[in-house]
Amino acid sequence: MLAPFIPTPEEVIKEMLSCANVGRKDIIVDFGSGDGRILKVAKTYFHVKLAIGVELNKILCKESKSKDVEIICGDLLSLSEVLIPRATVITTYLSPRSNELLEDIILRNGKKGLKVISHDFEFNKLPLEKIKKVKAMGLLGLTEHTIYCYKL
Ligand SMILES: C[S@@+](CC[C@H](N)C(=O)[O-])C[C@H]1O[C@@H](n2cnc3c(N)ncnc32)[C@H](O)[C@@H]1O
Repeated sequence: MLAPFIPTPEEVIKEMLSCANVGRKDIIVDFGSGDGRILKVAKTYFHVKLAIGVELNKILCKESKSKDVEIICGDLLSLSEVLIPRATVITTYLSPRSNELLEDIILRNGKKGLKVISHDFEFNKLPLEKIKKVKAMGLLGLTEHTIYCYKL
């Protein structure tokens, strides 16, 4: 397991998706999709074409399935090479080590213009476009969240 389940607050999700200017033509992949909340906001408020999540935890995987989103139950590192070439937007909320493992795969397989939005954890080699700070209420109370926006 690369990270525990800690949900991203909805205000932070909206800022993440705005940062990537997400819209109707986008195919978004959330690596470690938890209860599917990023995908549901992407579908409901940003009207993305396709919302795909990859989740290892079988309970979360089952709970997050709905008609609007596609959830793949499995390990994100094994599935990343297949999914990254399809994506126009990738979202992550994982850990520094997971980002380290994922970023070479993104650099090798992502198409030009791919946007990668990470909640709280940086990627070191991806081209950074913007950093945003958002205060929001989450599991740990009112805390500041950092959003890193990258574009290939
Ligand atoms: C911090 S939570 C983020 C959940 C959701 N993306 C969000 O922002 O609300 C990280 C999620 O990654 C999942 N995860 C951890 N390691 C994984 C792996 N190797 N493959 C797929 N999912 C994984 C965890 O089960 C957890 O649900």
